Amino acid sequence: MLVFAKIKSVQEKIKSLKKGTTIGFVPTMGALHKGHLSLIERAKKENDIVVVSVFVNPTQFDKQEDLINYPKTIDKDLSLLKGVFCDIVFAPSANEIYANNITSQAFNFDGLEHQMEGKFREGHFNGVGTIVKRLFEIVKPKKAYFGEKDFQQLQIIRNMVKNHKMPVKIVGCDIYREEDGLAMSSRNARLTESHRDAAPFIYKTLKEAKMKFGTKRALEVIDWVENEFKKQPLLELEYFDIADEETLQTIKNKNPNQKCRAFIAVFAGEIRLIDNISL
Ligand code: PAJ
Repeated sequence: MLVFAKIKSVQEKIKSLKKGTTIGFVPTMGALHKGHLSLIERAKKENDIVVVSVFVNPTQFDKQEDLINYPKTIDKDLSLLKGVFCDIVFAPSANEIYANNITSQAFNFDGLEHQMEGKFREGHFNGVGTIVKRLFEIVKPKKAYFGEKDFQQLQIIRNMVKNHKMPVKIVGCDIYREEDGLAMSSRNARLTESHRDAAPFIYKTLKEAKMKFGTKRALEVIDWVENEFKKQPLLELEYFDIADEETLQTIKNKNPNQKCRAFIAVFAGEIRLIDNISL
């Protein structure tokens, strides 16, 4: 496994690959867990080589303290990456990517950016678009892998690739969960013991909401979820939304041809957790 910190050196390596070598790319912010590894394993199956980036991207954090507290575990990450036979790791510094100008490009994601996470995390998706576009330009992958855990991010990247005519195929991957249903996340390690015990309630409620959506109207399901969370002293609901998978617009009236998904964001103490389920 080769590890590069400089854009020039990773580009030289990629240029030196035999013509026709297919590159599968998995961008990450490190603090790797089995969710990330599942994306890498899929990329490994579908491509000749796999490139993983490990970069805690400053421009996508709306709160400075969240950026400072984001877990950084590069040595452990590198040993996990070796274990899944990753070929190339690109782990640049912020200076290498942004020089002295840590700012985002302003994107138009056709309104996808104004829904859900966009309402609560100002500038977040411009930061994500900026770094992912830059990484695509550096790595030039044939396919890039993103988790459905961050479903809105996945749709926004698909939109960016389509609108900017980028020559990369975006592959969406299933959410990888703990045995008790909690979606794996780098943030889970920061939960207190009692918040960790409470957190599986999020997915349990999503599954029940899915059942209820079979017979009830979206607004009734939303009310039900909001009430369930009022009974949970350790979990504070930020939003629960039922939306169209393509437009991410809130569903008012169900249309049988529409693919719907339920989205949730919850504070477990200081830690913000997100999850979603296809309905
Ligand atoms: P990060 O949170 O490190 O996630 C990297 C990739 O792993 C994302 O595509 C995310 O959706 C996926 N992932 C995380 N947890 C997962 C789980 N439990 N199951 C399946 N996939 C999971 O998302 C980012 O980093 C950044 O925004 C990034 C795209 C790297 C840009 O900075």
